[in-house]
Amino acid sequence: MSEKIKVLGISGSLRKHSKNMALLRASVELNPENMEIEIFGLEDIPFYNQDLDNEDNLPKAVQMFKEKITASHSLLIASPEYNHSVTGILKNAIDWASTPYSNSPLNKKPYAVMGVSGGASGTIRSQLHFRQIAAENNMFGMNKPEIYVTMGKSKFNEKDELTDEPTRERLKKFLEAFYEWTLRNL
Ligand code: FNR
Repeated sequence: MSEKIKVLGISGSLRKHSKNMALLRASVELNPENMEIEIFGLEDIPFYNQDLDNEDNLPKAVQMFKEKITASHSLLIASPEYNHSVTGILKNAIDWASTPYSNSPLNKKPYAVMGVSGGASGTIRSQLHFRQIAAENNMFGMNKPEIYVTMGKSKFNEKDELTDEPTRERLKKFLEAFYEWTLRNL
């Protein structure tokens, strides 16, 4: 492990105590030595509007998001499951980044998806939907290992720090594998 990798982390939840954002922060803490994760907040990304999706009108936050994706070697996505799918927040951001289809910053971008749920399903359905969306954008998803954090409340402390030791170990291994996956797909 010697080559430096830059990763852009995005969370599909905007709430202050988001456990998915907390999982991203834990990733920043536990990441391999040569991997740097920058978290980009999606709170300023407006609803997708095709009338604004051109050079003259592109919203600033969208422009910045697209530039950050281009400047990163890979994407680390943490999203809750809303109604058995990804959140609208995440889908909306991906919709913006997906155009123009012939020159999208998502094209051939390696990614890993993970998630925390409050219950027992661990965002399985949301992650599967994300893989479907990513495939349309020719993104390269890491298949294994997977991370499904169940019973979210019990895995973090009151400061939203990941305290569950088995989950920390799993996340560490996941991030090491993602480093290798990113390198292989540059
Ligand atoms: C949910 N939640 C949820 N959970 C789940 O396992 N399957 C689901 O389909 C849904 N659907 C859903 C819809 C909506 C509108 C909300 C607000 C919530 C629960 C949700 O995944 C849980 O609250 C997560 O912990 C939220 O993630 P953050 O905000 O902590 O990152």
